[in-house]
Amino acid sequence: MTAARQPDREITLRRVHQVLDRLIGDGTVVAHRDGTTHCLFPVAVGAAEGAAIRSWVIRENAARTIEIGLGYGISALFTCEGLLANGGPESRHIVIDPNQDTRFANCGLQFLEEAGVSSLVEHHAEESQITLPRFLSEGHRFDLAVVDGNHRFDAVFLDLAYLGRLLHPGGIVFLDDYHLPAIARAASFFLTNLGWALEEVSTAEDRHHWAVFRTSTTPDTRPFDHFVDF
Ligand SMILES: C[S@@+](CC[C@H](N)C(=O)[O-])C[C@H]1O[C@@H](n2cnc3c(N)ncnc32)[C@H](O)[C@@H]1O
Repeated sequence: MTAARQPDREITLRRVHQVLDRLIGDGTVVAHRDGTTHCLFPVAVGAAEGAAIRSWVIRENAARTIEIGLGYGISALFTCEGLLANGGPESRHIVIDPNQDTRFANCGLQFLEEAGVSSLVEHHAEESQITLPRFLSEGHRFDLAVVDGNHRFDAVFLDLAYLGRLLHPGGIVFLDDYHLPAIARAASFFLTNLGWALEEVSTAEDRHHWAVFRTSTTPDTRPFDHFVDF
């Protein structure tokens, strides 16, 4: 980032921080689009999980991030905070959510706008299982992914399989709801069969966990009949 853009970045960072403080403090919002009232939690990630997402974005010095499940945009705001802190001039956060204008009355996009980070974010209003293979054929690459979309086994498995190919080798997957059997089992395949590493598992809450994985740094040379039960 050039010196001239530094003050803009500081102002936007403050705005993101203020919007997050307000949203997390109030917990309830009114959608500009249709006046509906929404309780953010427990659908959205909480402050501690958001801070963990932000710190992984910073730790990895990520510039290109992708998120499955925009929802109320809280995890997206924390991701953008990390990207702004990193200061990369080409930073971009891609978010995928087919239900933003229906179930969420565009609240996630509203908060991104209020925080002044809309220009950093690109929203795709379709299922990740459709978007991710297209991104692959278009040659997109990412440094870090946040996964909080469709929580069923088959959907998460597909998300992880495509993200494994979309992330740079050794890229980071921040996976929400790791306490759910379908999600833990899907992730287990990538640990046991594809050489992913478990970097961190949350411990703060008994009943809600998230986990962080690093994709393999070596090429996939498994023989055709390779299989490790998972
Ligand atoms: C728990 S919410 C995400 C909350 C978000 N992390 C936050 O902090 O506000 C799950 C989101 O996944 C979205 N979703 C469901 N199925 C999806 C799919 N197949 N692809 C992408 N997003 C999906 C839902 O519309 C919803 O917005």
